[in-house]
Amino acid sequence: MLLLDGKKLSEKILQDIHNELQSYKKDLIPCLAVCLIGEDLASHIYVENKIKACQKAGLKSVLKKFPSDCSKQELKKEILSLNQDPKIHGILVQLPLPPNFSKQEILSWLEPKKDVDGLTLENKALLWSGNPRVIPCTPKGILTLLKAYNVAIKGQYAVVIGRSEIVGLPLFQQLISHHSTVTLCHSYTKNLSVFCQKADLVFVCSGQRHLLSQKDFKKGAVVVDVGIHRRDKKLYGDVDPRGLENHLSAFTPVPGGVGPMTIASLLENTVQLAKKL
Ligand code: GUN
Repeated sequence: MLLLDGKKLSEKILQDIHNELQSYKKDLIPCLAVCLIGEDLASHIYVENKIKACQKAGLKSVLKKFPSDCSKQELKKEILSLNQDPKIHGILVQLPLPPNFSKQEILSWLEPKKDVDGLTLENKALLWSGNPRVIPCTPKGILTLLKAYNVAIKGQYAVVIGRSEIVGLPLFQQLISHHSTVTLCHSYTKNLSVFCQKADLVFVCSGQRHLLSQKDFKKGAVVVDVGIHRRDKKLYGDVDPRGLENHLSAFTPVPGGVGPMTIASLLENTVQLAKKL
């Protein structure tokens, strides 16, 4: 079984970005603003990793932290000011938001030309009409990883598990645009295993620790595990990795698979938006 090493590939992408930025003038250095609302520990760790990656790749970054009891007005004022600031090229609002905030409302304040996640209505429309401004970071990272390892996508039967607007839905869109035949499964799908067992490619973004295991995959399948679950200081995916070694043709490890690729894609999207502003 081939391990799809997202850590190694993401390091190369960060280095490539660093090299590209070296040739830019100082005032052209792309800058990512990250808005972090609330006290969720996992989100704080992810955001720290994003900021560290910016430093590594030579991008600037700004971190705006808000307590979960901050007012909507305060948050809106800050986002509108980032929209106006010519030194900021990309804006990311870390998800999930605390329950007292409406994701749709907050994302509606974002300037689409600075929306690095591609989550505003304008950017979703562009994606689904086949002319994306940016491809959302996790699907983009997954596709980059598969292409780097020459994993066939065209004509393959793919199953995506999960319909989140940040991963499952745009991943579905990317796979059909790369000419695979795709079934989108979710928490109400009956007989999930039956779909997975037929698939050449399985993308597991269910948010459930060890939802699937070896028995759910056909021999020689490629499995991409998007899950990340922290328990007793260890990280687990949505797939139980036991017994996969002699069964699959390729698998993304957790950690070190999709996670670092998502961050690399975030930086690529920031650079791409900076070039267009
Ligand atoms: N939370 C987990 N992954 C992501 C991501 O890619 N973007 C944002 N905005 N929030 C996230």
